[in-house]
Amino acid sequence: MIECPFAIFSGSSHEDLARRIAADLGTSLGSVFRETFPDGEIGIQIQENVRGKDVFIVQSLARNPNRNLMELLIMVDALKRASARSVIAVLPYFAYARQDRKDKGRVPITARLVANLLEKAGVARVLTMDLHTEQIQGFFDIPVDNLYARPILVRTLQEKKVENLIVVSPDVGSNKLARKFAEDLDVGLAIVDKRRIDSRRVDVHALIGDVEGRNVVLVDDMCSTGSTLKLAAQVCREYGAKSVRAAVTHALLLGGGFEEVGIEEIIATDTVAPGSQRATIVSVAPLFAQAIGCVVAARSISSLYAPKSKVMDGYEKIDNFSA
Ligand code: R5P
Repeated sequence: MIECPFAIFSGSSHEDLARRIAADLGTSLGSVFRETFPDGEIGIQIQENVRGKDVFIVQSLARNPNRNLMELLIMVDALKRASARSVIAVLPYFAYARQDRKDKGRVPITARLVANLLEKAGVARVLTMDLHTEQIQGFFDIPVDNLYARPILVRTLQEKKVENLIVVSPDVGSNKLARKFAEDLDVGLAIVDKRRIDSRRVDVHALIGDVEGRNVVLVDDMCSTGSTLKLAAQVCREYGAKSVRAAVTHALLLGGGFEEVGIEEIIATDTVAPGSQRATIVSVAPLFAQAIGCVVAARSISSLYAPKSKVMDGYEKIDNFSA
């Protein structure tokens, strides 16, 4: 009997997503023993033979990015030393991506640092989703496949059949993404002119476009503290929006108070493990499973986004959660 040529392991950050991905591929997760030593160090033992296999590690670098990154690096090291043929990091959420340029004195470029760490540990390829900026792919000298959640989020919005919809970009940086959403949904676009004061506070100057009497959907790659979305929602309300909802890929949702500013629903994917805030979650597991299938079979990943691609029919919706 020929053994399966690939294996999927999960880090501890989001096992539920990893299990869904494995199940969609008709397999189960590889067995790994984990422990934390009394001094806080992480211990790992891979508990099955991986010799000669292409091994995928699913690890979302959210919630506890420092620990999750270190755990991933340790797993890569263990797998390389166990003679895996290649190790592929499946990172549904790529942390430290927002520090991607030196825009003031004496600051790091953490996105590049993480890329270096992954490569140095022995990662052969990265499979990720909605990188904060596409240019981050250039920080790597190994292949990076950046999947997009937009088709899944667009489909979810279409199913809601919201009338008089308008897409609003909550800041100028998300404008390109928002324009694609507006094109896919065949609706108009408006932009909130946001300025970030520091990592927790943002300020708004103006709204470009007309949202009066319209049902707004704010779109962004991620929601962290929620300041960006909440301020944008307030501005839309002040300019006469009838309703406001949001669609984001990475729902860290660290702060609360979304309903108070009139955000009636947050639609997000499950790239990040659930926190304490309520959201409508759509799973990206089928898309990651298809992409892994493409890597294993050396097929094109961009073909997954072809208009008649089956993957867009196979997405799953998970009920609202509130952990
Ligand atoms: C900014 O460039 C991003 O696209 C998001 O708008 C931002 O990171 C969200 O952060 P927060 O939720 O903390 O405002």
